[in-house]
Amino acid sequence: MDKKYFIAANWKMNADLSFINEYFSAFKSELENSNDMIICPPDIYLQSVMDKAPSFISIGAQNISQHEVGAFTGECSGHMLADHSIEYVIIGHSERREYHRESNEEIKLKLLKAIENNLIPILCIGESIEQRESDQTFEVIGQQIRRVLDRDILSADTQFLIAYEPIWAIGTGLTATPEMANEVHAFIQSILNEIHSSKIIPILYGGSMKSSNAKELLQMEHIHGGLIGGASLDASEFIKIYNIAEEIRNG
Ligand code: PGA
Repeated sequence: MDKKYFIAANWKMNADLSFINEYFSAFKSELENSNDMIICPPDIYLQSVMDKAPSFISIGAQNISQHEVGAFTGECSGHMLADHSIEYVIIGHSERREYHRESNEEIKLKLLKAIENNLIPILCIGESIEQRESDQTFEVIGQQIRRVLDRDILSADTQFLIAYEPIWAIGTGLTATPEMANEVHAFIQSILNEIHSSKIIPILYGGSMKSSNAKELLQMEHIHGGLIGGASLDASEFIKIYNIAEEIRNG
């Protein structure tokens, strides 16, 4: 089956205007682009990235408010993102779950707001090292999905991405082996099938993906792309990962 890849950059709280100018100068030469490339900069740079990025690149935010409008200092609503033609939004990243105490319930509200505003959610899930070592990976992942996604949500005619990001692999240089990641991705797929048998949701892997390990990860049956933090801050490294996906898809 032809598998389309989603190669997404999560810049987190990095970048500034000169970084952005330089970053996109690396995109001068024509890139094959049969797969999707997504860049998620900090909100204040969404417009700058949109202005500078080649048109085949989609832009995503890193967070969305669960509220529509009003007295929520520091927040940015789904309507505001959609108003700027943002296409994607990362929801439930482990850093937000940890530093901002985001619960599965709050994450579900954010996901609903994204859908209401025609934004494509990139729902992040993943276990901690303690949970993996005590054999709770599948239980945790199962909960993270079931508390956020239900049959109604999956029945809607909306697109979604899921990113499996084992917390112990994020920014640590440790990567899940391709087999480990593939096993969890297959499990995620099986839960999605239980909730809604026919919905196809691409599942990306995140956690220290880089050009040196991208090929073996992306070749796995259930891995449909990557959510890339550290390695996406180097434009040539990010392009390399994207090109690996191109090579795999186009042979
Ligand atoms: P990393 O981050 O690639 O630096 O591990 C991935 C992420 O947190 O999305």
